Amino acid sequence: MTFEYSPAPESKSIVKIDKEYGHFINGKFVKGKNHFATINPATEEILSRVANGDRGDIDKAVAAAQIAYSKVWSKLSGAERGKYLYRIARILQERAREFAVLETLDNGKPIRETRDTDIPLVAAHFFYHAGWADKLDYVGLGKSPKSYGVVGQIIPWNFPLLMLAWKIAPALAAGNTVVLKPAETTPLTALLFAEVCQQAELPAGVVNIVTGAGETGAALVNHPGIAKIAFTGSTEVGKAIARAIADSKKVATLELGGKGANIVFEDAAIDQAVEGIVNGIFFNQGHVCCAGSRLLVQENIADEVVKKLQNRMEKIRVGDPMDKNTDLGAINSKAQLDKIKDLAAAGSKEGGEIWSPKCNLPQNGFWFAPTIFTGVTQAHRIAREEIFGPILSILTFRTPSEAIEKANNTPFGLSAGIWSEKGSKVLWAAGQLRAGVIWANTFNKFDPASPFGGYKESGWGREGGRHGLTGYLKAGK
Ligand code: NAI
Ligand code: MG
Repeated sequence: MTFEYSPAPESKSIVKIDKEYGHFINGKFVKGKNHFATINPATEEILSRVANGDRGDIDKAVAAAQIAYSKVWSKLSGAERGKYLYRIARILQERAREFAVLETLDNGKPIRETRDTDIPLVAAHFFYHAGWADKLDYVGLGKSPKSYGVVGQIIPWNFPLLMLAWKIAPALAAGNTVVLKPAETTPLTALLFAEVCQQAELPAGVVNIVTGAGETGAALVNHPGIAKIAFTGSTEVGKAIARAIADSKKVATLELGGKGANIVFEDAAIDQAVEGIVNGIFFNQGHVCCAGSRLLVQENIADEVVKKLQNRMEKIRVGDPMDKNTDLGAINSKAQLDKIKDLAAAGSKEGGEIWSPKCNLPQNGFWFAPTIFTGVTQAHRIAREEIFGPILSILTFRTPSEAIEKANNTPFGLSAGIWSEKGSKVLWAAGQLRAGVIWANTFNKFDPASPFGGYKESGWGREGGRHGLTGYLKAGK
């Protein structure tokens, strides 16, 4: 039986988008130059125009952050810093719907996800770190650990406000001030967050936001006034940042790509695993660094799993991200869509068998149907490269040790999933996998208390939890 759904669009009326934005420096919105459009990827409609920050803008933002650090923020007690973070967290909760709608418009992800996942997690990160601000003696770095000073933060477009929260909340709790550059396709929620900083009466210069593209990010990385860089994005840019700071005293945390293995053993609860596979790769259109993009399924259950997965995929609702029934929204940009199409073509060319359910994709905007490839081998590009889209590569294995060997056969090491009813097997497999985050009988679960990060080319350092906080502090006495 299938149900027909009537459209259930969320109203846009709660958000007010300006025609043009400048940067947020020293507590004020200031004029910018060289504006470029940010669009709604579901409609290609221009939402606003944002400034392309240059070295001069970065200079001003870093100077404001330095003064705020030395004159105000580093002099406050942890409890006082915590009060600001609690205030920001509460305002984010109060304005949650506004943020969810704006994020969906600018990013293309379904309102169901921004409303139920992104924005609640954003507030949770601020609450969690607010609680740490006066307890830094217990973070594991000795008594009175020291902040770095001004931190440069560069974030991607896949979870715009959530990545801002992952960066700003621990930095401020630890006593640093920040200059943050949002991604060029998704700057609007960061600019709305600047308004929240004003509303919370956060001292001027503690948070500065400069919009722009790669060159703006590079100017921030290379600025001598920055003590630490925190970056989330592609492995390629992560490597460039590591090279750029190699002969300086700057430190970095890098949160890069992944090619997560989702391993389904023959003794798994199959229906539950199918839900986890769908969540692992189709959540956020697959624009997830820790996506379960490689399914490793034990050979004797592979046919059953693929059949059930196809059946489940027939029910994924693709389309208007503002519709509350939508499961899979728009691809974030034309460039990302082209990359996904290229890799899908390579998958077919190299001998994989492609399948997607029938779906009517909208005329305008950037869309890609949920897709699986069977018959994939480890040599195929779609088994090795990060696609960052709604494409699952399916491989099989015969023995548990073969599963581990295949799962670890990647330059990345960010996430993995294990599906088995046997606790001993789950623990054994988790011990063998070279991945920073491992889920058992679930996938894509996030909590501010839990450290997140990778091995190998997936990056340096951890974000979240006590471990993440240590990335913003130097050892004390
Ligand atoms: P990107 O790494 O170019 O962009 C991420 C951020 O870095 C953006 O804010 C961008 O403006 C900035 N940036 C770009 N060049 C820079 C430079 N030289 N110095 C400093 N900052 C710089 O990622 P892009 O091009 O948007 O996506 C390309 C691929 O990267 C995706 O297809 C996906 O595979 C991967 N990616 C992975 C992410 C993750 O969460 N691990 C997030 C975004 C992209
Ligand atoms: Mg946009």
